[in-house]
Amino acid sequence: MTEITGRTAIWGILADPIHQVKTPQALNALMNARGVDGILIPFHVGASDLDTLVAGLKAMRNLKGFVVTVPHKTAIVDLCDDVSEQARAIGAVNTVRREVDGRLVGEMLDGAGFVAGLRQGGIKPGGRSVFLAGAGGAANAIAFALAEAGVSRLTIANRTRSKAEDLKQRLAEHYPSVPVEIGTTDPSGYEIVVNATSLGLKEGDSLPLDVTRLTPDQIVAEIIMQPETTALLAEAKERGCRIHHGKPMLACQLELMAEFMRMHP
Ligand SMILES: NC(=O)c1ccc[n+]([C@@H]2O[C@H](COP(=O)([O-])OP(=O)(O)OC[C@H]3O[C@@H](n4cnc5c(N)ncnc54)[C@H](OP(=O)(O)O)[C@@H]3O)[C@@H](O)[C@H]2O)c1
Repeated sequence: MTEITGRTAIWGILADPIHQVKTPQALNALMNARGVDGILIPFHVGASDLDTLVAGLKAMRNLKGFVVTVPHKTAIVDLCDDVSEQARAIGAVNTVRREVDGRLVGEMLDGAGFVAGLRQGGIKPGGRSVFLAGAGGAANAIAFALAEAGVSRLTIANRTRSKAEDLKQRLAEHYPSVPVEIGTTDPSGYEIVVNATSLGLKEGDSLPLDVTRLTPDQIVAEIIMQPETTALLAEAKERGCRIHHGKPMLACQLELMAEFMRMHP
């Protein structure tokens, strides 16, 4: 770690609980590698104190920005002075930049990280049909990023149908040219199949979609990072599909976060 001096810039991550976060290690390593005189520190804050902390952070002149994670991604939207149109439509922010005048600018980079990860893996989502399992926080961000990337059509399948309907509605308002449907567990006929549910995280989880319907011409992408090869990816590989792991989403997102929060030397 670089020596902390009076010139060292500060970034943070807001979460509750906080002990499990990996962003400090990742972004401090990135800053070290780039020669940034800065440090990212964990800020443990509960939901009832979030507004108090954020008011303080606005006043902190050497604070450059912060990452926001569970459970604050929704509540932080209204505490920012400026939020991107997409983040507002998603209803969540996970990265905040503090401008020199103290204004807090929020962005949601989960979906952009996923799409950047696909592209890094040589998979271009533009013009392709996508089946998306899930309508939670990550799925919302990914759906918006896929629409932004210009997919030819998007089908959302979620256990709680009303959440998929709600997401479809918001997508239609922002991307009227992208056809969006509500799907079943059947992913057949789509070029890219994405699991954006939390199924696969725990051993014994059921599969997020009907893998017997997968065909070798499909790409199956995961957002679960641990285990690296989920049961879904193993089944997809077995059926001859090209698979895309969950880790690139985070790796790409860290780059986007560093860029957005101006972690420059
Ligand atoms: N790779 C990355 O960088 C990255 C980034 C963010 C998140 N993630 C991963 O994404 C996962 C989801 O995160 P999130 O923030 O979107 O969580 P979330 O908002 O709680 O959403 C969870 C989603 O999974 C579905 N689900 C959960 N249990 C289910 C079950 N038993 N059967 C059917 N569907 C089920 C939920 O369906 P309902 O709506 O019906 O409850 C919902 O669609 C996390 O587990 C995390 O590992 C990865």
